[in-house]
Amino acid sequence: MVASSAPGKLILMGEHAVVFGQPAIATAISLRLKCKISPSSGFSVNGVPLSDRYHPYISSAVRKVWGSEPIAIDIVSEMPSSSGLGSSAAVTVAVLAALSQMKGQFSEKNVASNGFEVESEVQGRASPIDTSTCTHGRGIFIDRTPAADMLWEIKRDTRRWFIHHCDVPEMEMVVGYTGVVAHTGPLVAKVKHFADRSRFGMEIIEEIGSLTLEGLDKLKKGDRVALGGLMTKNQKLLAILGVSSPEIDKFIKVSLPYSYGAKLTGAGGGGSMIALTDHAKEVSEAIRKRGGTPIVVRTGAKGVTVDTA
Ligand code: MEV
Repeated sequence: MVASSAPGKLILMGEHAVVFGQPAIATAISLRLKCKISPSSGFSVNGVPLSDRYHPYISSAVRKVWGSEPIAIDIVSEMPSSSGLGSSAAVTVAVLAALSQMKGQFSEKNVASNGFEVESEVQGRASPIDTSTCTHGRGIFIDRTPAADMLWEIKRDTRRWFIHHCDVPEMEMVVGYTGVVAHTGPLVAKVKHFADRSRFGMEIIEEIGSLTLEGLDKLKKGDRVALGGLMTKNQKLLAILGVSSPEIDKFIKVSLPYSYGAKLTGAGGGGSMIALTDHAKEVSEAIRKRGGTPIVVRTGAKGVTVDTA
């Protein structure tokens, strides 16, 4: 039996724009997904037959790296699915890590690169940010050019992403989960539609890229006031792209009086928002009062782990 676990993730700055090759910053969080895989008489997930329909990420991962020997896969996740917290990437990465360990082919780079292929197959257009963050853990900075601390490079069509380790300090952040299920694929397609048809749309995406570079500088300097301000500006641009939602806007509005900054995280359209704050209790209470589910998480968590029993 092989057991693996992968963290959830938060995108601090740059989601959606990163799909176009712009820079982005993400961190692994203290919520995890655990996976156990053992030989079996048939392919199953948590006791039910493995299917493309109900387990698209797991099916695609199994097809990509596994043969025909039947296996039983058991998954337990601390992240709600389609919440913007990386549950799809975490399940993809945890399953790929366990399967590649069983084949003696485990490496972070392999898992991250296969993970991106799986996400692209299931989601459609994608960037490697979620799968690389759930694989490497701690912090990730994606840039258009390679630099010191580069972990790996991922390519697709004309786009190239250089994935770097980034020292994200252990900070407490409040997640406001809306409970509204939002699928990433259609939101990514909506942004592409906008950018393909309007120069203004593409300018917003480029502006998110520039803000993210400023954000990296503030993160490195530990300047939470400036970083928070940039996150809030990033949110305004995401709203123009049409990926915020009434619930996200409401939770951001009530969090800001107690926070350095707040924005949606992940694909948006529902899912979750995050607040950078020293007042987790007040922010959590404000989100709860407006009908959301606050979750206090720690950033900088470790990446994928694999154990053979
Ligand atoms: C989703 O967590 C992040 C997006 O940028 C999509 C992607 O990068 O694949 C919205």
